[in-house]
Order: sequence, then C-alpha cells, then structure tokens
Amino acid sequence: MGVYYSIKRIIHVKKTKTLGVLDELKNFITPLSKEDRENLKENILKHGCREPLVLWKERNLIVDGHNRYSICTEIGVPFEVVEYSFDSIDDVKEFMVANQFARRNLHPYEKVELVLKIKPILDRMAKENQSLAGSGKKVKKRVNTLHLLAEKTGLSHDSIHKACYINKNGDDDLKALLRSGKVTISAAYTRLKKVSEGGLAKSLIAPPFSILDTRQGYWQDRKRWWKDKIGDSGETRENTLIKSSLSSIVGGASVFDPVLAEILCTWFGKKGFKVFDCFAGDTVFGYVSGKVGMDFTGIELREEQVALNNERVKKDGLKARYINDDALNMDKHIKNNSMDMFFTCPPYADLEKYSDLKEDISNMDHDGFFEVYKKCLTNTYSKLKENRFAVVVVAEARGPHDSLISLVPKTVDIMVRAGYKFWNEIILVNCVGTLAMRSGGVMKKKRKVGRLHQNVLVFYKGDTSLIKKEFEGALDSFDWEE
Ligand SMILES: C[S@@+](CC[C@H](N)C(=O)[O-])C[C@H]1O[C@@H](n2cnc3c(N)ncnc32)[C@H](O)[C@@H]1O
Repeated sequence: MGVYYSIKRIIHVKKTKTLGVLDELKNFITPLSKEDRENLKENILKHGCREPLVLWKERNLIVDGHNRYSICTEIGVPFEVVEYSFDSIDDVKEFMVANQFARRNLHPYEKVELVLKIKPILDRMAKENQSLAGSGKKVKKRVNTLHLLAEKTGLSHDSIHKACYINKNGDDDLKALLRSGKVTISAAYTRLKKVSEGGLAKSLIAPPFSILDTRQGYWQDRKRWWKDKIGDSGETRENTLIKSSLSSIVGGASVFDPVLAEILCTWFGKKGFKVFDCFAGDTVFGYVSGKVGMDFTGIELREEQVALNNERVKKDGLKARYINDDALNMDKHIKNNSMDMFFTCPPYADLEKYSDLKEDISNMDHDGFFEVYKKCLTNTYSKLKENRFAVVVVAEARGPHDSLISLVPKTVDIMVRAGYKFWNEIILVNCVGTLAMRSGGVMKKKRKVGRLHQNVLVFYKGDTSLIKKEFEGALDSFDWEE
C-alpha cells in the first residue's frame, strides 16, 4: 500500500485525556466480536494499554483504537495518544485501511473488502487521472478504479472482478468463509455464479428451489429497484403492529416484498392473466402484477389504503384496481370462473392489527378469524378458471398460552377441502434484521425461536397433467424490465 495521508506532526501525549468519537470512523472498520473485546480487555488489564491510540489532531477524533479507548476508560487504565494531521476525512479513511493492511495478515477477500470501503475515493482518483489525461497533461499511466483496487490489494484484475461480484451478490455465510480463508475467491465466485446466474436466476429471478432467500444480494438489489418504482412503505397503517415479530420485515408496518410478488406472477401466471386478491393490503402485488402485464383486482377493507393504491397504479397506467369492501362480499365483484390466478397474503390472525373495523379479520378473536378466513378462501375456488394456480403467503401466529395456532396447516386444509391440489411448499427466508438481538432473550425466558421465515403455499385447480400445455411460453410472455 502506498502512503496517501500526510502526517504533518506527531506528538506523544503521555496522559489520559477525553477523546472525540465519530461513528463514521468508529464503524469504518468491522467492529470486534464480543469475545474478541473480552480478550482485549483481559489483555489490557494484565499488561496495560501497550499501543498508542491514533488521534486526528485537528479534530480531536480517534482514528485508530476505538476499542482500546472504550475499554481503558471503562476500567480506568491510562493510555498513550499519537496525534496525526490529516487534511480530510478521506485521508483518515485511507490511513485506516493502510493501517489494517500493515497490522494483520489479511486473506485476499478481506483485503478487497477493506479497500472497497474507500472505493468512492478511488473512483475520484481515477476520474481525476482521466481528466488530466483528457486535458493533454502528462500522467504517469492511465488508471481506473479496477487498477487502483488491484494495486492496493496486490491481487490480479480477475480476482478483483470476482471479489467485487461476490461482495455485491454473495450472502453473509459465503463472505464469512472467504474472510476465514477457507474458500478461495475463485471457488466462491464459481459457486455463486452457478447458483444465482446459471441461466436459472436470470430468467426466473431466483432459483426455483423450495427456499427463497431474500438475504441474497441479487434479491436486495431487485427489491430496491422495485421500491423506487412503487414507493409504498406502509404509510396508511403505521403503528398498527400489536406484536413485534412482523415489524422486523420492514422495520415498521409489514409491506409485501415486491421481488416475491414478481416471482409469483411469473412462475404461476402469464401475461394478460386476470389475478385477484381478497385481502389486498398495500400497493405492492397490484403494482407488480400490473407492471409485468397482468390485470389485477384487489379487495381491501381499509378505505384510505384503497384510495392510495388506486392513485399509485393509475399514475403509472397499470391494469390494476382496488375495491373497498369486505372479502366476504367477493361474489359482488368477481364472477365465477373469470380469474386466472388467485394470490393473497392475509392477516396472520391478529399478529398485525390493521384497523378497528369490525369486519377486519385481524381484529377478531381466533375463532371468528378462522370462520371468515375459511369462507373467503373457499369461495376463491369458484372464481378461478380450470387449470390455474392459487398462492397464499402466510406464517404461523401465536394464540392462547402463547402457543402456535397452526395457521399454516389450517390454510392448507381449507384450500384442499375447497378443491385445490397442494402443489408447492416454499419457505421464504427473511433478513435477520433486529431478530438476532431480540431472539436471545426470548430463547432464555421461553425457549422460543425467532421466526425468520414465511410460508408460500401454492395450490392448483384442475388437471395437473395440463400444466405444461397451459403454461407453455408463459415465462417469456412477460413485460420484463431490467
Ligand atoms: C397482510 S395484509 C395484506 C397483505 C399485504 N402484503 C400487506 O402486508 O399489506 C392483510 C390485509 O387484509 C385486510 N383485511 C382484513 N380483513 C379484511 C376483510 N374482511 N376484507 C378485506 N380485507 C381485509 C387488512 O386491512 C390488510 O390490509
């Protein structure tokens, strides 16, 4: 690594003093695990703080030694400070990266991860170099960000390219393996490409497995892309959560995942298909199904949500409409044998209470909930044409004595009794979010595990031997947008 920061003056301060902490710098380098912090604390208790902390002189901010500082102040051990002069926070960050390189024996992927932290700085350097070259001024050699990344890590362009791909698309487990050096960048890249891009994911959005993993990079990228388009963050029902587990899905009111909506439309629908939902909720499913070329009808009890949804789909000229009514009145709005797909993500009993309306099934006791839920789901069967799919996204909820109420098996039972064939059982894995923090205590107190998934239950009405014929070419029929 070259030196890109300027040390103007170094002063050793032999006494303890109060130092400033800036979160942007504190969080810049991956924080120590709880265990590593305990080990460091023990070491300091035994031997004192042997290495001086590095301080940004001009701003009295810690650059290196956040953990040592917090431990020393906690247990009252004195420490030394070395003051460095930096011109900007970018210089500080470059120093921090170089410092990590010098201090630890890093695995190749860790090096790339570290240098990627200063990518905006490298981008700027590359741009400056390009504009110098463009203005006819002499430059030593033309550089781009890839060159700079390779130079700073000592890795080949090919390894950098692969590591960047993994950084964007890999999951936490794969990255942890790379950091530990147990897997090479090349092997991880090949594995990831096979799973996420091996032709399958590209045309099907995600691999068609019984687990859909929303934590994957490609899923999160696609989700952001959809969110920018749709813009629903559950505004009409903020603060409706009466229990906290759903809130982890989006950090507030639960909003349906648009990538899941896109997957369900394309795997089990076809362009031009008429799709309906009797507990429609937010804009997401209607918007996404309309955007890929389907014709959506949703029934939703909350008037303000219906107004918001209709405004959004109308603005983008989509074939989607929301009707403000009780799902029990489905017959008034949807003719028998008129629909090509049924989709719903119903209230998970009273896990999230949507309104105070007496017809709201999330507002009923569990007996009342199951009675109406059963009537509505059963009625969808007659609305669907032959040889078509129905999808229910649902998750378990808790009831009396905090025990699970069997919402998932009961949903399957209701649908099968209505006449559907149970066709696919898919587990949707959610992001961990704050669940990691909350689950430890619940396990200790009640031996309950944190719910990290929802169930996507797929049913079929009709003759399963006709699926191939009925859905021939369906995947290529959609209006795709990258
Ligand atoms: C889980 S949400 C819909 C799914 C959507 N993904 C969401 O999270 O907003 C369930 C929706 O059912 C609505 N709902 C509750 N009881 C209803 C009823 N009897 N008829 C129609 N909609 C109802 C609620 O207002 C809520 O918006």
